Amino acid sequence: MTTDAERGGALIYKQRLATRVTHWAWAICLFFLLLSGLQIFMARPDLYIGHQSGFEFDNAVLTIGSAITDGARRGFVDLFGWRFDTTGWLGAIWVNGTLQPRTFPTWMTIPSYRDLGSGRVVHFFFAWALAATLLVWLVASLANGHLKRDILPGREDLREFGTDVRAHARLEFDRKRDYNVLQKLSYFSILCVALPLMIATGLAMSPGTNALVPWITDVFGGRQTARTIHFITMLALVGFFVVHIVMVLAAGPLNELRSIVTGWYRTDAETE
Ligand code: HEM
Repeated sequence: MTTDAERGGALIYKQRLATRVTHWAWAICLFFLLLSGLQIFMARPDLYIGHQSGFEFDNAVLTIGSAITDGARRGFVDLFGWRFDTTGWLGAIWVNGTLQPRTFPTWMTIPSYRDLGSGRVVHFFFAWALAATLLVWLVASLANGHLKRDILPGREDLREFGTDVRAHARLEFDRKRDYNVLQKLSYFSILCVALPLMIATGLAMSPGTNALVPWITDVFGGRQTARTIHFITMLALVGFFVVHIVMVLAAGPLNELRSIVTGWYRTDAETE
């Protein structure tokens, strides 16, 4: 593998201060939101479609739970009527050497023990911090041209789609100032679709917002559907995070990290 210096390209200023600060702010927010969100989910570990939930309804699309089978506790996930055994991972968790009925492992939730109240305090604090960060990013990116130049894919970019997919499949990356089309599409999906959807479905579940703007819950087909969309968007963000880290590692982690921490990025010699 060639080192950063051997590549010999110019060291350029690629990431502006606003991009870097907001990037790390939402990375921190999303960490706390995920773990406190899983704590809140444990209070009712089912997902429904529609306006209502309860024992008299049969509209759960996902349930995480546990049951005693042949004298032993087993964890399960029911998804659209299909049951999967998830003992040790989901539903039934090892705590001090015994399997306990618990939706998620203790390391996956904030706090690690069952505490809905604290989970909600952490979640709502970081939810507002995330919304504020996204607003700062939007205003700064409109003002300095980042949104138009680096995030919104243009016609030219889309023409490169096939070439870019093939290059990514071969793990070949051009190190240059501009994002390639797959980067643009994925960052656009996160910043302009997933995060706003996360915030909107969060607001749709809030009784306070319901009182102020009741229509927001109806837009998502009810509070339970909003909760299900909120959960699916969370899974998409986790998926993005895994791919994002793999791409950073494949593209050269030190150079990539330097750019998102200090702004400075080493380009390939031929792409200067
Ligand atoms: C929840 C966690 C994260 C999310 C949602 C996220 C999302 C994003 C987004 C949307 C961008 C584009 C920002 C812009 O141009 O305005 C970006 C860029 C970047 N991120 Fe993250 N990120 C996360 C965590 C991380 C972590 C942990 C690392 C480092 C290991 C990292 C490394 C980078 C780098 C190097 C870039 C520069 C863009 C590039 O050249 O592709 N990110 N990230």
